[in-house]
Amino acid sequence: MIRPMSTFAPSDLLNCLRWRYATKKFDPTKTIPAETWSALATSLVLAPSSFGLQPWHFLTIQNPSIRAELRTHSWGQSQVTDCSHFVVLAAKTTMNEADIDAFLARTVAVRGGEIDQLTPYREMMVGFTQNMDEPARLQWAKLQTYIALGQLMTSAAVLGIDACPMEGLNPAEYDRILSLPEKGYTTSVACALGFRADDDKYAAAPKVRFEECDVLSFL
Ligand SMILES: Cc1cc2nc3c(=O)[nH]c(=O)nc-3n(C[C@H](O)[C@H](O)[C@H](O)COP(=O)(O)O)c2cc1C
Repeated sequence: MIRPMSTFAPSDLLNCLRWRYATKKFDPTKTIPAETWSALATSLVLAPSSFGLQPWHFLTIQNPSIRAELRTHSWGQSQVTDCSHFVVLAAKTTMNEADIDAFLARTVAVRGGEIDQLTPYREMMVGFTQNMDEPARLQWAKLQTYIALGQLMTSAAVLGIDACPMEGLNPAEYDRILSLPEKGYTTSVACALGFRADDDKYAAAPKVRFEECDVLSFL
């Protein structure tokens, strides 16, 4: 694939990142256009993960009554019901050899070659995942979902879409409502996406960040 010719200057990127903020109040009358949403959904699919294993599933909840129920388990936060698209990022609860084999089969389907050639890679991944106990494996899977979250949020900012990452929710209740355990997943984090309300006062609040010298080092 050819490197995209970008007209996007470094200053454009910073403008987008400074424009974005954790949106507290969405305009419930505005919907993300289909093409833009499609790109954001694909940004999730394209997110990188450790070994490429993609131990996740992303649910976009558009059903208003499910959203209303989820809101009651999200500290009542209005973003859940008022945003255009509400995404729950779920982590795989068990990463077993069958999952690794499914990934390897996909690799062969996409790239060609023989699955046997991937045996050393398979052993490495099996070793990596089996060296962890179950809680550690789940924690690892949840960490991967945060990479997807970051990619989604940056993609949204670049496309002029507002977003609010959300950990202020009850994962057990989300799991129950979305029937995630029986599918082998658990709620990790969520993200509301759409358009800020004109009167969201947080939009104008200056960003609170430590000085660059406190968080950046060059050795
Ligand atoms: C993983 C994560 C979870 C968050 N959960 C919530 C949340 O539940 N509700 C909310 O209003 N903001 C939430 N935030 C937003 C943060 O408070 C916000 O990103 C931070 O204060 C920095 O402000 P800014 O994003 O507007 O620059 C969350 C942020 C992250 C990264």
